[in-house]
Amino acid sequence: MELLRRLSEAAGIPGYEGPVRAIFAEALEGLVDTMEVDALGNLIGHKKGDGPVVVIAGHMDEIGFLVSHVDQDSGFLRIEPLGGFDPVTLVAQRVLVHTESGDLMGCIGRKATHILSEAERKKALEIKDLAIDLGLAADVVKDKVSIGDTVTLHQDFIEYGDVVSGKAMDDRLALYVAIEALKRARKVMCDLYIVGTTQEEVGLRGARVAGQALNPDIGIALDATIAADTPDVPAQQRVTQLGKGVAIKLKDSASISHPGLVRAMKKLAKERDIPYQLEILPRGGTDAGGLQVANDGTAVITLSFPTRYVHSVVEVVHKDDIEATINLLVAFLETASQIDLAG
Ligand code: CO
Ligand code: ZN
Repeated sequence: MELLRRLSEAAGIPGYEGPVRAIFAEALEGLVDTMEVDALGNLIGHKKGDGPVVVIAGHMDEIGFLVSHVDQDSGFLRIEPLGGFDPVTLVAQRVLVHTESGDLMGCIGRKATHILSEAERKKALEIKDLAIDLGLAADVVKDKVSIGDTVTLHQDFIEYGDVVSGKAMDDRLALYVAIEALKRARKVMCDLYIVGTTQEEVGLRGARVAGQALNPDIGIALDATIAADTPDVPAQQRVTQLGKGVAIKLKDSASISHPGLVRAMKKLAKERDIPYQLEILPRGGTDAGGLQVANDGTAVITLSFPTRYVHSVVEVVHKDDIEATINLLVAFLETASQIDLAG
């Protein structure tokens, strides 16, 4: 879990995944034959083998911001989002502003409840209304902060109950799962590329380029999916449930999983007693959508870990579901040459 902690707490908004890539590369060392970084910043680890060409993708980026404006009088910062935020989840959060001269701690606050008018209370929050307070004089801020400096939410990774929680479980947990699966697999029956992708949160951009370059037969995205299994949500809208196993995705709005891969994953899960659930996600996408349409096309699927409160700093994942996701990926790696997509 120490690796997961480091990955979760690292900063890496779309296009600026460097710190995450460094941790992932260190963890991949010795598990693959070669590693390279392409023009988009994708980290591509290659474990040479026979059988189908397989890409396993997990995205390194997290949703975050660029500094778009520095208020000349107050030193407060305005921000441009990279990725999809619910503004409500941003109020009363600590942030880090990554400047050329180092990281600055700050917060996103809101007018105290005592003085909020009825109209202000009812108004929907928008990101353009939010500002970062660095606790520094305007002159100091103007000196240290530049337009385009990146901003990430600040949150510790913790374990409690049966879960892990923190920021960017979407999708740092995928990198952890990939590493663990590679360590545990007794054999790898394919020509395997493990790819830490970039810019997923702004449109699967890294995965599209990696798919084009590597031309896989099979693409597997690892990603967080919605677990809306909270008391306010009717059963038919839960998508997945925490603690009920790895989610084998059937569709989201970016890809429809290959029926042969769905069949193969279900069979492997049953054979190895790995708990699983079937996922239909109405809206959202994963790197599978980018890999699917590369070159002459790729058979893809996403293995998802059910996650509560996705795209917030308290993303929650059940430890049993992490195990199930790792185990199903191990099962696939050990049998990949036998998978019959047509059958
Ligand atoms: Co996401
Ligand atoms: Zn994701």
